[in-house]
Amino acid sequence: MSRIAHRGRIAHMLRDPGSTGDATAIAYFADGCLLVENGLVVACDHWDKVLPDADNWQIINHDDALILPGFVDTHVHYPQSDIIGGYGEHLMHWLDNYAFPVEQKIGTDLEYAANVAEFFIEQSLQNGTTSALVFATVHQHSVDAIFEAALAKNMRLIAGKVLMDRNAPEDLCETVEQGNIATQKLIEKWHGKARLGYAITPRFAPTSTMQQLLAAGELLQANQQVLMHTHLSENKKEIELVGELFPDCADYLEVYEKAGLLCERSVFAHCVHLSSSEQQRIAKAGASIAFCPTSNLFLGSGLFDLRAARNCGINVGLGTDIGAGTSFSMLSTQMEAYKVGQLQGDSLHPFEALYLATLGGAKALHVEDKIGNFASGKEADFVVLDLKATKILARRTANDPDIRELLFVLSVLGSSDTVLQTWLAGERVV
Ligand code: GUN
Ligand code: ZN
Repeated sequence: MSRIAHRGRIAHMLRDPGSTGDATAIAYFADGCLLVENGLVVACDHWDKVLPDADNWQIINHDDALILPGFVDTHVHYPQSDIIGGYGEHLMHWLDNYAFPVEQKIGTDLEYAANVAEFFIEQSLQNGTTSALVFATVHQHSVDAIFEAALAKNMRLIAGKVLMDRNAPEDLCETVEQGNIATQKLIEKWHGKARLGYAITPRFAPTSTMQQLLAAGELLQANQQVLMHTHLSENKKEIELVGELFPDCADYLEVYEKAGLLCERSVFAHCVHLSSSEQQRIAKAGASIAFCPTSNLFLGSGLFDLRAARNCGINVGLGTDIGAGTSFSMLSTQMEAYKVGQLQGDSLHPFEALYLATLGGAKALHVEDKIGNFASGKEADFVVLDLKATKILARRTANDPDIRELLFVLSVLGSSDTVLQTWLAGERVV
């Protein structure tokens, strides 16, 4: 029996605060208590209200560090951890020159695959990311590698084998049947094991035939608990190519609709150039979008219209999209999301940013009943942030700003250096 009372500043989102940052949607305790029993949250409140007795509880005092729910990265490619910062390229060239070569290397070097998977998990945890929805490569062993690395830390992680059968290097393509068999095997092997889940992962429309997408849609129907994870409308040239490859479809989303890949369990990365019809169809289906600001800016893909997506009722999470994304830090990702908003006349409220990075992300991954905030009964995944981690952060937070300002300053000045500790299901891992 493990019983720990964590004392410190604590904040978490109770629900979606909307664009105005509804202050009743956040719970903040300047002197708070997070009670964790056997890895689960028992209570989260003011210290004085809980007052755990030291005979029954191990008390850990985090002083004035800030405890937040662990961050949820809703779109990331672990095999691309070593290719961050591929200079001066746009999406389609970047895939050819950076992404595909490193994914080929994963295919031929099992030791490298295991090494990158471990490095990815370590980096995620050091940045306070406690859950993620992850692309592997087309190789079965690449999925085994990431699940084994996550399992070793008891991390809640969803991943999938990439499906491609055209428009990629030959050794990254396979037949529809090969992809199907491997996916089904991996679902049986990993889905529901410890804290792991599976996502059927067609890379994107250009690298699959309609036959492969239809087969992926059938797998999604046959496996009602798994997610579907792909890219949609990231780049204008990509959209043009989809128009040429699928002349029978009126727009990009229709390709996925025809294949049975648009449903509540679908997570679409990017969605930078959606029409309002596409937005409405995604909203109606109850699917989610992973907003990846560092990647969209780095590859020059465009500015995601968060407000339009959220106004029409789409659930949105934040994604780092490593390695087109430039940072493992979800604090930095929040900051870049804010800048993308600024350029469109929409200043992302710090409470909304925290929601996107935690509870909103958990919703996108269909695990909001397990993680995302400190509601009692949830798994105790959390991060402890040092408000004095750097000299500038210490100066900037010295006048004890309110929680709105504190969260915002952390997104501007925070990084992996700010993360003092990371805890997974009640166990300290960083
Ligand atoms: N679209 C298809 N594959 C990829 C990828 O690996 N990264 C990004 N950013 N977009 C993609
Ligand atoms: Zn991606």
